[in-house]
Parts: sequence; structure tokens; C-alpha cells
Amino acid sequence: MQVRVAKSAGFCFGVQRAVDTVYEQVEKGVRPIYTFGPIIHNEVVVRDLEEKGVKVLNSQKELEALQEGTVIIRSHGVGKEIYERIERKGLHCVDATCPFVKKIHRTVEKESRAGKQIIIIGNDQHPEVEGIKGWCSTPAVVIESAEQAEKLRILEPIPLCVVSQTTFNYKKFKDLVEIIDKMKYDRVVVNTICNATEERQTEARRIAGEVDAMIVIGGSHSSNTQKLFEICRNECRNTYYIQTVHDLNLEVLRSTGLIGITAGASTPKKIIEEVQTRCLN
Ligand code: F3S
Repeated sequence: MQVRVAKSAGFCFGVQRAVDTVYEQVEKGVRPIYTFGPIIHNEVVVRDLEEKGVKVLNSQKELEALQEGTVIIRSHGVGKEIYERIERKGLHCVDATCPFVKKIHRTVEKESRAGKQIIIIGNDQHPEVEGIKGWCSTPAVVIESAEQAEKLRILEPIPLCVVSQTTFNYKKFKDLVEIIDKMKYDRVVVNTICNATEERQTEARRIAGEVDAMIVIGGSHSSNTQKLFEICRNECRNTYYIQTVHDLNLEVLRSTGLIGITAGASTPKKIIEEVQTRCLN
């Protein structure tokens, strides 16, 4: 049996960096450590960190109640107010915001100060968008659908600055910008979409097209893993969706020559390596 593992399988660069940051702090002996929100949507990782003494803060109220410690900001980033609150309370802040998200913060901060109306294309409920809004000096407008874009009315004659949530779909982003453009506002558009998700999908499609069987690893509720599974299944009928190495059915794979492996965005490297090792042994 031969195995081909997708390079883009699992965590993207920003999430890997954030998770590594927390483990580094643990290893340095820093205590107590808190993350503002779970560092990643993976129970195994969050539980492992909890066992090592890392607590998750679920609200600003919980942050406010702290007397001491280190607060780690996850890759999604947070608004300016959270940094100020951490500082005011005399807590130590370790910033693991993804640099691509940080760049959006800098852009909206600068452009809103320069008098532009910030338009964020993304999901208003998403923590990343919440954080971006928190860097605008005037209230931002968030748009997610064509319907919301059609309804956009900026009454003051000021230029617009359009940015996007990093994980927003590029085609949808373009469609929404087109709608805004028809309104003839003076505007700048900064495409802030990160292509980590797209790269993962493109590579999975390519590998699935070249192998005899494909394994997709990810959580049962992970929508990006589900999407990866569909993409691979379209290319390779022998595609299997597993959560951990324990779900692997080697009997089915035994007669297979070349196996491909990919994994959703919240799958730790360790799980991918375990699956790879099991296939090879
Ligand atoms: Fe990941 Fe950062 Fe992109 S968190 S999806 S690399 S914006």
C-alpha cells in the first residue's frame, strides 16, 4: 500500500500558529493561561490543553472577573476593546491573531479613521467579523447576502472601504461587490479572502483523482470536512470519512494500491499521522 498525504490537510497556517502558541506558553511554565474563546473547534485539542491547565474564557464577563494571568488571543482576532480591557486589568496578553486577520484590522482602522465607511462582507455573527468591527472607529456595515447588498444605503457622501471575512467564498464576494458597484459609490475594495480553504479543496480534488482510495479525516459536525468528502467522492468512489484512526477499516483498504489522505481544518497533525502510519503498517 502506498499513501499520499495532502500538504494542506488539517490546520491552516494561522490556526497551527495559534495552537503552537498555547503549547509554547504551557511549556514555558506560564500560569495561569486563558484563551479568549476555544483556540480551535476541536474537542480533543481543547481537552488536552485543559488538562494542562489552559482555561477557556467564554465571555467578556469572564475576562473581567480575572485577577491575574496570561490571555491568549486566538487566530480569529478580537476588537481593540479586548486588548484595552486586558491591559487595564494588568493581565498579560499573548496575541495569536492570524497575520492575515491582523492586516484587516490595520486596514479598517486606517480607512475608518480617514473617514471611510467600512463595509465587511461576511457573517455578522462570526467572531472574526466581530473582531474586525472592533477596529473601526465608526460603525461598520456587515453584508452577507445579495439581498442585504441591494438594501445598502449610505446616506452620507463618504467613500466606502470594502473588506471581507477571510473565509468568505470568493465568487460570492465578487457578486456582492458587483451589486455595490452598481450604486456608484466612491469605493475601495480590498480582497482580504485567505485561500487556505480553497487550496485544501483543490489539492484534495487533485489527489482523489489520482488514487485508488481516499480517506477524509475530520469531525462529524465539521462542514468543511463534509465539503472535502463531497469533492473527493466526486473524483474517487472509494472515499471514506473517518474521525480518528479507530474508524479506519483496513480490510476494505487492503487490496488498494494507492491511498490518498486529506483532513478538515480542525484536524490535528497527530491524527493525520496516526492514520498514515496505520495505512502503511
Ligand atoms: Fe487560517 Fe489565517 Fe487563513 S486563520 S484560514 S490562515 S486567515
